[in-house]
Amino acid sequence: MQIVKTIQELRPIIQGWRKEGLSVGLVPTMGYLHDGHKSLIVKAVGENDRVVVSDFVNPTQFGVNEDLSTYPRDLERDAAVCKEAGAALVFHPEPEEMYFPDSCTFVDMDSLTKGLCGKARPTHFRGVCTVVSKLFHIVAPDRAYFGQKDAQQLAVIRRMVRDLDFGITIVGCPIVREADGLAMSSRNAYLNEEERKAAIILHESLALGEKMLEDGERDGAKIREAILGSLDREPLAKVDYVEVVDAETLEPVEDIHRPILAALAVYIGKTRLIDNFTFDAFK
Ligand code: PAJ
Repeated sequence: MQIVKTIQELRPIIQGWRKEGLSVGLVPTMGYLHDGHKSLIVKAVGENDRVVVSDFVNPTQFGVNEDLSTYPRDLERDAAVCKEAGAALVFHPEPEEMYFPDSCTFVDMDSLTKGLCGKARPTHFRGVCTVVSKLFHIVAPDRAYFGQKDAQQLAVIRRMVRDLDFGITIVGCPIVREADGLAMSSRNAYLNEEERKAAIILHESLALGEKMLEDGERDGAKIREAILGSLDREPLAKVDYVEVVDAETLEPVEDIHRPILAALAVYIGKTRLIDNFTFDAFK
């Protein structure tokens, strides 16, 4: 497995694969890889001849008071995970490789990026769309893999690819969880022991909402209230948002008769965690 740091080095390698007629999968990540990331890589390896994992903490998707400087990094461990999962190449550029000092072109989106995480993080999805577009241009994969863990991001990327004719198949992958239900996240590393225990309230509260839907409840407001009520029982949890939205448009829904996404962002101490589930009984 190769580790490549520059676009100039990467392009001929991929052109070589293309000349041999090989298909290429891309798994974009910010590193500090866990089993959630690994599941994406393993899926990509099963569906493509060569898999590129990008490992880049993208500065443009962090707000000014967010955790860019403290975001955990461990390239050596990441490379071992990628190798074990069967990736052909890790692309690990420095920020200077990805952004000119006077970069002034961005990919932005209306509507889908305004609610949910976009409310508290108004510039986040502009950064995500921009870096993912750049990675798509650099790697030009057949398929790219994204986790349902970041459900809004997945919906945004699908829309961007459709609207801008990228011609890349976007593959969504299920959320991988710890044994107690906490969704795996690189940011879980910020939690102390007490916070780690408290963090299971996210999944527990969502599971309660999911059970209500399975039992036939179709009032989005009632499901939202039940999730909020459950989160309220955990003193370390401070809610950023809980929303029940249309799975495709991400617009809030009251009367549920189409697939929905129930998503939340909650601070456990200083750490902001997200989780969600989708419900589709209408197939
Ligand atoms: P990062 O948070 O490192 O996540 C990389 C990919 O792994 C994303 O598609 C995310 O949804 C997926 N992922 C994370 N935790 C997961 C879990 N528990 N189960 C399944 N998939 C999981 O998301 C980003 O990086 C960045 O925004 C990026 C797309 C790389 C752009 O910079």
